[in-house]
Order: sequence, then structure tokens, then C-alpha cells
Amino acid sequence: MDWPDRFQALDNWLAQHQALWREKPFTRLRCDWEVDYPELAQWLRQHSLADAEAAHTGLVLESAPEPLPELLATARQLSAVPDWSQPLTQSYPEVLERHIPGRKWQQIQAFATATHKQWLQPGQHVLDWCAGKGHLGRLLAWQRDLPLTCLEHDPVLVDAGNQLSRNLQLSAQHHCQDVLQPAAWRYLQPHHSVVALHACGDLHTTLLQQVVTRGCRQLALSPCCYNRTQAEYYQPLSDLARQSRLQLSREDLALPLQATVTAGQRDRRLRDQSMAWRLGFDLWQREVRGMDDYLPTPSRPQSALQQSFADFCQDLARHHQLDLPPPADWPALEQAGWKRLTEVRNLELLRAVFRRPLEIWLLLDRLLWLQQSGYRVQLGQFCAESLSPRNLLLVAER
Ligand SMILES: C[S@@+](CC[C@H](N)C(=O)[O-])C[C@H]1O[C@@H](n2cnc3c(N)ncnc32)[C@H](O)[C@@H]1O
Repeated sequence: MDWPDRFQALDNWLAQHQALWREKPFTRLRCDWEVDYPELAQWLRQHSLADAEAAHTGLVLESAPEPLPELLATARQLSAVPDWSQPLTQSYPEVLERHIPGRKWQQIQAFATATHKQWLQPGQHVLDWCAGKGHLGRLLAWQRDLPLTCLEHDPVLVDAGNQLSRNLQLSAQHHCQDVLQPAAWRYLQPHHSVVALHACGDLHTTLLQQVVTRGCRQLALSPCCYNRTQAEYYQPLSDLARQSRLQLSREDLALPLQATVTAGQRDRRLRDQSMAWRLGFDLWQREVRGMDDYLPTPSRPQSALQQSFADFCQDLARHHQLDLPPPADWPALEQAGWKRLTEVRNLELLRAVFRRPLEIWLLLDRLLWLQQSGYRVQLGQFCAESLSPRNLLLVAER
């Protein structure tokens, strides 16, 4: 696979269409791109909430007015990566999967299977970065009969991990460490096969830098939460990405995370209600203040949705220290909030086309940086998207 060419093609395409994925319909009554593509905007706006949900989880959007079908086709082409996922048929000792939720255990097995195939030979020591209880590292160490080191900063998880490793009589050390601090980096050794499953933003970019600095033999990384970074704007790693015209904010970096496939019915209903109510509040504040400006709304516990819509809105107004006169008709405002949610969800389908391409762009920046640092690197998908939307895996070997 010619990854530099793919990166360049993705980079050009994402930059060319920035106007379509940068704007968030949630914060705008009308998006600027709607002026350029009125037919598409109208088509999207007339669909129901259920239509939007179905489209997010796979309904065909090919019948939409252009440019949506064409963008979808290009997005698929630019995001294609090898599929390393396989049926999980092997059985393991019960203690290996003890305390692991079913979905997580499947992800761990899929990750382990994919690395087995991609690494020519495992290194002589497994290191699990941001390990939690170390389930992934433990499975790999047990499979390959290797010693294990786990780094994790939550002492409760460190203790629980230690106990589980002892039960298996593994040669394992679980260290309570903040991996962002240099004291943790000395644990990385050249003979290590380092694994990290769903390590967020700075946690995994720090890992990449330290793996290269310390010369670790192998790395298998599935990143998560690209937006969890100290830096306000994305700091590219590779030379190619440094030349890009894309300047990504934390909000942009959250775009790849916006898939909802794994949310359950109840969670989805609560999320919808919370968003519809916020959008209702938004209509109210714009109207009363006479300003076409979005006001960010703070996150609220689920219990906030048990109060009335009016109380919910007044709470938000108090948060902004606004003394807004009540609307003429609260139920009508609530209904308008739900109508806007329906429109927003459908308009977001255009933005969603760019979700995976942007994630691949980010993965390729990591891949190219490892390549330029002397690693042979592969990128693939280790499990189905329905098992985890964060299913991309970088496997590198020095
Ligand atoms: C998304 S979880 C992934 C855990 C595990 N790899 C898995 O897939 O089950 C991220 C883990 O990183 C840990 N973590 C977060 N910040 C950390 C830090 N600064 N140093 C070490 N661990 C950290 C969290 O406590 C959590 O266990």
C-alpha cells in the first residue's frame, strides 16, 4: 500500500471540502454550505429522526442529491484499509476473561489475533500502556509465554490487575504510573512489544514518541479520543502532515468519535431528549436576545432530564446569567427543539461522510511518522465497527 500517496490524496480532499465538515449544524440555524447545495439541504431537512438514525447505522444515502453520493464514494475509497478481523473461535481459561465486559473481551481477543498475524515474531516482553487491569497484555503474555509490564495510573485498576496476573502465575508487574511523566518512560525497553488499546490523545502520542526514542522493537496501537490533548490545535507528527494546510482544532478532532452505533436504546433516547431540549433553549435565547449566536451549554447529569423542559431551560439561562422572559408557549418551544434536532441529525449526515477519512488521516500521520523513524508499519481494521467504532490498528516493527 502506498501510504504517503493515500495521505496526500486524503489531505487534498479534506482540505478542499473543509466547508462541509467544519461547521456543526447543532450550533447553526443554517449552515453556509446550504447556500451552495440547496437541493441537498432541502432533501436532508425533510427526513425524520428515525431516517437519520438509520442512515447513521448504514441506510443507503446514494439516492441523496449530489454532492453526497459522490463524496460518499470518494470517502469509502480513501478510507479503505485491510480487514484483519476474524471469527473468534478460540477458548481461553476463565480467569483471562474474568471481570471483562463481553464487548471489551471480544475487542481484546480481536486485537490479540490481529497482532499475532502481523508481527513476524513477538518481542521478548509485553508492555501494556494505559493498561487498565491489563486484560490485553495478560492475554498476549499468556498466549506467548512472555513476561508482562502494565502501566496504569489508577491504583484500583493496578491492584486488580496484579491480582488477576497472580492468579495466572504470570511473570507480571503492574506499575502505578502517569504515562505522561518521564518517570514512566524508563519502563519502555528495546526488547518490548508494546500494546495500547484505546489510549486517548496525548496518552498515545506520548507513547509513539517514547517508543521511537527508546527504540522498542514492536508496537500495536489502537488510538482513541484524538481530541484529548493539551494543545489547542493538532500537532502533526510526520513531515508530510506538517506540510498540510489543515489546521485541526479540538472540535475537529472530535469528529471521528461521533459514531453512535454502540449506544443502547435507552441511552439514545436520553441523548436525543437532552439535545432536543438544548436546541429548544437555543431557539429561545436567540429569539429573546435578538442575536443569532449559539451559547455553549454545560453537560448536565441525566437527572436534569427529569425536571420539566421549562426548568431545564431556565437552569441553562441561569448558567449564562441571563434573565430571559418566558416564551409564550413552553410546549411549542419544546416541539420546535425536537424539530430542530431532526433537522440537525439529518444535516449531520453530510459531516459524517468525513468522519472515517479524517480518522484515517490521523492514523496515517502516526504511520508515516513511525515509517520515517525506521519502522515497518501496517494499518488495518482489527474488529467490526459494530464491536467498536475505534477499530483501527497500527502495527509497527523496528
Ligand atoms: C480507555 S481506557 C483503556 C484501558 C485498556 N487499555 C482497555 O482497553 O481496556 C484508558 C486507560 O488509561 C488510563 N489512563 C488515563 N490517563 C492515564 C495516565 N496519565 N497515565 C496512565 N494511565 C492513564 C485510564 O485509567 C484507563 O484505564
